[in-house]
Amino acid sequence: MIRTSTRLRMAVLGASAAALLAGCAKRENVILIGEYGSLTGGTATFGISTKQGIELFVDDANAAGGIGGTKIRVNVEDDQSKPEEAATAVQKLIDQDGVIAVLGEVASSRSMAAAPICQQAGVPMITPSSTNIKVTEIGDYISRVCYIDPFQGMVIAKFAKNTLGLTKGAVFRDIKNDYSVGLANYFSDSYKAMGGTIVADEAYSEGDQDFKAQLTVIKSKKPQFIMVPGYYTEVGLIARQAREMGLDVPMLGGDGWVSDKLLEIGQDALNGCYHVNHYWEEDPNPAVQKFVAEYKSRYNAKPDGLAALAYDAAGVLCAALERLRTEDPASFQALLGPRNDAQKAARAKLRERIATTKDFPGVTGRITLDAARNAVKPAVFVGIKNGKYEFVAAVEP
Ligand code: PHE
Repeated sequence: MIRTSTRLRMAVLGASAAALLAGCAKRENVILIGEYGSLTGGTATFGISTKQGIELFVDDANAAGGIGGTKIRVNVEDDQSKPEEAATAVQKLIDQDGVIAVLGEVASSRSMAAAPICQQAGVPMITPSSTNIKVTEIGDYISRVCYIDPFQGMVIAKFAKNTLGLTKGAVFRDIKNDYSVGLANYFSDSYKAMGGTIVADEAYSEGDQDFKAQLTVIKSKKPQFIMVPGYYTEVGLIARQAREMGLDVPMLGGDGWVSDKLLEIGQDALNGCYHVNHYWEEDPNPAVQKFVAEYKSRYNAKPDGLAALAYDAAGVLCAALERLRTEDPASFQALLGPRNDAQKAARAKLRERIATTKDFPGVTGRITLDAARNAVKPAVFVGIKNGKYEFVAAVEP
């Protein structure tokens, strides 16, 4: 009696364990994507906005059935705003987690640290927002959904020279930051070619707190504006210290200023300043307004330019996956399978679908990648007045 019931129980247990395992295996049948970003450290708002933008797109896509019924899962790694950690994070995502594609980073220096690992492993990487030209030059597995710094630098130069009518500028660059150095150079070249003069070119390093020595030099050269191609924390401090020293000329900047924290740090000192962004949250385009409303209700915050680019990067990746699924179902299946040669070949097919993205309707504009896998899109100029943002212009490429 006892033996029979035990055997019966074991049989029942065995059956349910098998069902459980089958359930797990089924749940494991997902498209596994990696994401690396600065969730902590000096530019934490970059990583947090990006994570939220990706999460929003992917959750919506999964609610609508995923990619032909297969769900997408995103494994996220924090790189603490450090290039070395970015490389470690991506190595882990690829080697341990076995992701089939990677989204990240925001900062160009960190994308440049991790991209060679993706290229080497044959894992497609899409950076939502790294604008330094070198990022996609690392190899054909690396793409981006944003414009690049030669364009951004030219847009800022044109704005200073033609819109504001200023002929004498100073540059204050972060020499530890590939993005800042590149953008400073492209800006200067364009501005000089338009007939403008650079009267001072000073340097600081990310993490600095005191900028008075360099600002004193800049002030003595009497520029009509200061171009500061840096990230928000330093930009906010620079603005305050410049004003304290009676250096009241407008400051201009690039997309690195984009953060909720900028106005918190720089406060009144930023009135009358301008910078470039990737989208404008009050754009009447219904797709933009739907994104803004959904993001606000979910995160209780306005989506910044980074959240918007991240949402689009996830969108471009999902669209490429969907194209692969319909055009080449065997390769799509191989992406879900073990990490073997068939999967490697399938990742190459996915890479090709990403690289040929055309007219993707993003919230940051229509996205078409050129032969160098860079997006060709408009830039948005915004100004700060009375502690609030104002739309100034959208500049077509
Ligand atoms: N473009 C910057 C870089 O390449 C990153 C950035 C993009 C920061 C958009 C803020 C907003 O480093």
